[in-house]
Amino acid sequence: MTADSAHPDLSVNFAGIALKNPVIAASGTFGYGVEFADIVHLGKLGGFVVKGLSREPMIGNPPPRLWETAAGMLNAIGLQNIGAQAFLEEKLPDLRKVKDVVVITNIFGYTREDYEHTIQMLNQGEGIDAYELNVSCPNTQHGGLQFGMDPRSLDEVVTTAKRVARRPLIVKLSPNVTSIAQMAYVAQEAGADALSLINTFTAMAIDPESRKPRIANVTAGLSGPAIKPIAVRMVYDAAHAVKIPVMGMGGIATPADVVEFMLAGATAVQVGTASYWDPCATEKIVDGLQNWCHDHRISRIADFIGGMQLE
Ligand SMILES: Cc1cc2nc3c(=O)[nH]c(=O)nc-3n(C[C@H](O)[C@H](O)[C@H](O)COP(=O)(O)O)c2cc1C
Repeated sequence: MTADSAHPDLSVNFAGIALKNPVIAASGTFGYGVEFADIVHLGKLGGFVVKGLSREPMIGNPPPRLWETAAGMLNAIGLQNIGAQAFLEEKLPDLRKVKDVVVITNIFGYTREDYEHTIQMLNQGEGIDAYELNVSCPNTQHGGLQFGMDPRSLDEVVTTAKRVARRPLIVKLSPNVTSIAQMAYVAQEAGADALSLINTFTAMAIDPESRKPRIANVTAGLSGPAIKPIAVRMVYDAAHAVKIPVMGMGGIATPADVVEFMLAGATAVQVGTASYWDPCATEKIVDGLQNWCHDHRISRIADFIGGMQLE
């Protein structure tokens, strides 16, 4: 069937990965994918990114770990996960049964060796399409500053990951930096095949009555519609600093939000916090995008990429 506005073509090519539509569920908000199989038609999504995986299982932070803010959400889950080995044995076999959906594994660590080791473990699994490197983690070998906040640490961790990765490497940038364009460029030069952004903003909230922090970890990550305009600006800045493709995210909740990120330069997008408010949000956005293109007489969604018009 040829694409026309009655049957819009939603497919995009992202760093050599064919996505049937640009909507991907974001890491940490969609479990390991399989948990959503009863409520979301997983096969309708472009893909999903599984929860961040580490070389060993982690129990995460003590509660409270979530707090709803005006137009957003604070979380300090603490990267709780079952570990890369258990993922390969207990989750991946079921994920491979879902047809025509791209599976991306999100990876984090506290040293370069952690990242290297976890990627080597995941290289053994079949049915993973790409790796997404979460660099918003403290680098315990370099004073605890996040990898993604220091150009040298970022360069080192991406170089290490690229050397071992047998799949396309998407580097997920931290927004907690002065120049996102610089970090985007550093990641590209270190070998990233693509970028995704943004991760959450470091933030906090205090209960005036008890005078205690709302989140046991004291600081947390802010996500949701509250961060969207900053995310759009950062996607725009990053996409204009590199030649590799960019996946945009931060507060996406509607089909029009997807179009906005694509106009800023994103080739594909991720949807995170919206799944907390409505577990079917990702699927509804895919359906809505089809209708949006139809109503606006758009035959190819890929034409939006970087298409913002100044006049
Ligand atoms: C509860 C929660 C857990 C998250 N866990 C991860 C994670 O494990 N790895 C990661 O790279 N990002 C994680 N994120 C960040 C999201 O993937 C996303 O980058 C961010 O929330 C911005 O998108 P959104 O506003 O659509 O949620 C998490 C976000 C939330 C809300």
